[in-house]
Amino acid sequence: MKGVVFTEFMDMVEKQFSADMVDDIIEDVELPSGGAYTAVGTYPHGEMVALVMALSTRSGVAVPDLLRTFGEYLFTSFVNGFPTFFKDHGDAFSFLVGIEDVIHSEVRKLYPDAELPRFDVEHHDDRRLVIVYSSVRHLEDLAEGLILGCIKHFGRTARLCRETIGEGEQRRERFLLEYS
Ligand code: HEM
Repeated sequence: MKGVVFTEFMDMVEKQFSADMVDDIIEDVELPSGGAYTAVGTYPHGEMVALVMALSTRSGVAVPDLLRTFGEYLFTSFVNGFPTFFKDHGDAFSFLVGIEDVIHSEVRKLYPDAELPRFDVEHHDDRRLVIVYSSVRHLEDLAEGLILGCIKHFGRTARLCRETIGEGEQRRERFLLEYS
């Protein structure tokens, strides 16, 4: 997982909890990297899972809620960190439709070792969007936070429903969105 995800996660923990919380969770977890993340580095995905679990244990906030909150935070970081990705988009749904072929494909050029999910668009019109998330990392709660952050960024509100399709490691998550 790219270092930028780790550095933004630590920033969020510091802002929404405290600097001590950052130190505490790094101490709680046996991190091969030692917790000294840089935005351009690449670290094991398992370290992120362990850090989120440690934060959940210390804060009492459930892991899915932490991942959703982090997703919203991360989207704002992407807006600030990758402004060129936003210049041709005026609408949240059309931006989300381009995640796979436009946004993440550019990310892959910048970071050839990025481990990205896959998004399939099942339906898109002015009011409704249905996309299916697949990833062996199963970060569907993070995806939900990123989607919500995206809708907020474009100044809209939308109803979001989720359903799991498939089973076991093959399972995927369908997100059904409708502008309110
Ligand atoms: C400008 C906007 C965006 C940028 C620059 C961006 C970039 C990235 C980067 C750098 C990663 C880390 C890859 C790695 O760890 O190796 C990532 C992961 C991810 N992105 Fe995006 N992303 C953007 C928008 C979105 C949006 C809107 C969604 C949701 C629809 C999304 C869903 C995800 C998810 C869920 C992951 C975690 C990896 C996984 O699930 O397998 N991203 N993205």
